[in-house]
Parts: sequence; C-alpha cells; structure tokens
Amino acid sequence: MLRPLVLLVLLPTAALRAAAPVSAPAADFAKLCAPCHGARGEGREDLRTPSIANEPWWYVKTQLGNFHEGRRGVHALQDPQGALMAAVAKGLQPAQIEALARFVESLPLVPPSKRSVDGADVARGQELFYERCMECHRYNASGEMAFGSPPLVGRQGWYLLEQLRKFKARHRGAEKGDEKGAKMVNMATLFIADEQAMRNVVGYILTLNPEPAPRVEAPFDLPSAGANNDPASSPASRP
Ligand code: HEC
Ligand code: HEC
Repeated sequence: MLRPLVLLVLLPTAALRAAAPVSAPAADFAKLCAPCHGARGEGREDLRTPSIANEPWWYVKTQLGNFHEGRRGVHALQDPQGALMAAVAKGLQPAQIEALARFVESLPLVPPSKRSVDGADVARGQELFYERCMECHRYNASGEMAFGSPPLVGRQGWYLLEQLRKFKARHRGAEKGDEKGAKMVNMATLFIADEQAMRNVVGYILTLNPEPAPRVEAPFDLPSAGANNDPASSPASRP
C-alpha cells in the first residue's frame, strides 16, 4: 500500500518534473513554435521572428487563420518571413490554433531589450501616434479587441518597422478577405508619409514598453536539450 508513496519520495525531482503532464498547447508550443519564436515566445532577431508572448488570443487566432488561409505571407519574394510563418500555420488544425492562441496569451510579456530606433524623432512620433494611431491601438498602444487592433508594446522595433513597410507596400493586408489588414494598409498609406515618419512613430511606441522583468524560466520543459535561446546552438546557425 505504501509502495507508490515511497517511490515518489525516492524519485529524483528532475524525473518527477519530466513525468508531469504537459498540456497539449504547451507541448505544441515547445515543439512547433519555440524553435523560431524562443521558449518564452520572446522572438529572435537572427530569425526575424517577433516576440509573440502575451499577444491577445483573438489577435493570434486571426493571424494564424490569415497565414493558414492565404491572407498573409503570400508574397514569398517580398515577404519571406511571412511565407515561412504561413508554411508553419498551414500544418495546424483549427482546434490546435485555438488552443495555441490561448497559450500564447498566457505567456508573460517580454518587452524588447532595445527601446530606441536610430535616427527617430520621438516627439514627432508621439504627435503622429496621438493623431493617427491611438484611436485604434489605444493609450499606451495596448490594443483594442473591438477594432481587432493588437497591442504594439512587446514587439521589437525592427519588427514593427518591417510590418509598417509591408502594409505600405501592400505585401500584408491587401489580400481578399483581410478586412483588418486593409485598415492598416489605409493608415500606412494615408498617414505614414515616409521611412522617417515610420521610424519616428516606432521610436515613440518603444518608449511605451514597461521595464523588462527579471528573466523567468520557460513555463514548460523543452523537448530536447539544446533547443534553447542561445543563437550559437540554433538550427539556423548550425553549419
Ligand atoms: C520557421 C520559423 C517559425 C516557426 C516554427 C513559427 N513561426 Fe511564427 N513567425 C515566424 C516569422 C518569421 C514571423 C514574422 C512574419 C512577418 O514578418 O510578417 C512569424 C509571425 C508570427 C505571428 C504574427 C505576430 C504578429 O504580431 O502579427 C504569430 C501570431 C506567430 N508567428 C505565431 C506562431 C506560433 C503559434 C507558432 C507555432 C505553431 C509559430 N509562430 C511558429 C516564424 C516562425
Ligand atoms: C482604424 C484603426 C487603426 C488605426 C487608426 C491604426 N491601426 Fe494599426 N492596426 C489596426 C488593425 C485592425 C491591425 C491588425 C491587422 C491585422 O489583423 O493583420 C493593426 C496592426 C498594426 C501593426 C502590426 C502589428 C503586429 O503585431 O504585426 C502595426 C505595426 C500597426 N498597426 C501600427 C499602427 C500605427 C503606427 C498607426 C498610426 C500611424 C496605426 N497602426 C493606426 C488598426 C489600426
């Protein structure tokens, strides 16, 4: 009768942790997403992946749906990052997308380490943000579900710049059925005059990030040794 208890006491804690049940989305995330987006969903500049940690589930679900159904990532030449993500999303089942979206939201926000954009005029960026962006992206760029406009805090500056360039060039948001993307194509076309204005507004958005929290451990065990966030051991940088 006492044997299972005795066994439990004798098992080393590491073995116990490995045996603990991992929820399906956490396991999916570790296997399918962490290799590119990092174990905490923090993103990696070397792989051009955004920080997705803490993105609201409704936004993640919309984007995975867009990638899955050919509304985002369809311009392989001009938007190779989107095309890569589309290839991943096409392999996901609808139920998996729903569960992964909830899981991504549950990850703590990882504010970008770089809080500035070279050559940005932050005061002018703030002006533009107040005038043209805040209506949808809200105070502190925290996003608004009713408009489908995501939070812009948490994303890296280079990623935000790339997205604005893609909207302006109609490489994102211009496909049939992408109504939310179409709004951003309009905004970028009408109100972001040029690369300098883009840098200004992104420079300002970066200042809205909360201070980075001390590093926290991944909320699950990684499937294999070596799948960490060290660029030197990443699949992409291996010979
Ligand atoms: C092969 C690398 C790779 C893998 C694996 C991958 N992604 Fe991505 N993902 C990317 C890249 C690159 C982008 C940026 C696309 C762009 O620039 O438009 C991206 C973008 C995204 C976005 C859009 C974020 C935004 O703010 O609009 C979401 C959401 C996302 N990925 C979720 C996931 C999830 C969930 C998984 C696991 C099922 C996953 N990704 C696996 C490379 C990857
Ligand atoms: C009319 C509402 C509206 C306004 C105004 C607006 N946006 Fe957006 N924005 C959206 C929506 C909706 C999305 C999500 C698009 C999608 O679903 O692909 C978005 C997405 C974005 C993204 C992509 C984020 C990501 O994680 O990939 C960036 C960057 C962005 N907006 C910046 C801006 C800036 C800068 C301004 C001001 C110049 C602005 N937006 C004004 C509605 C708006």
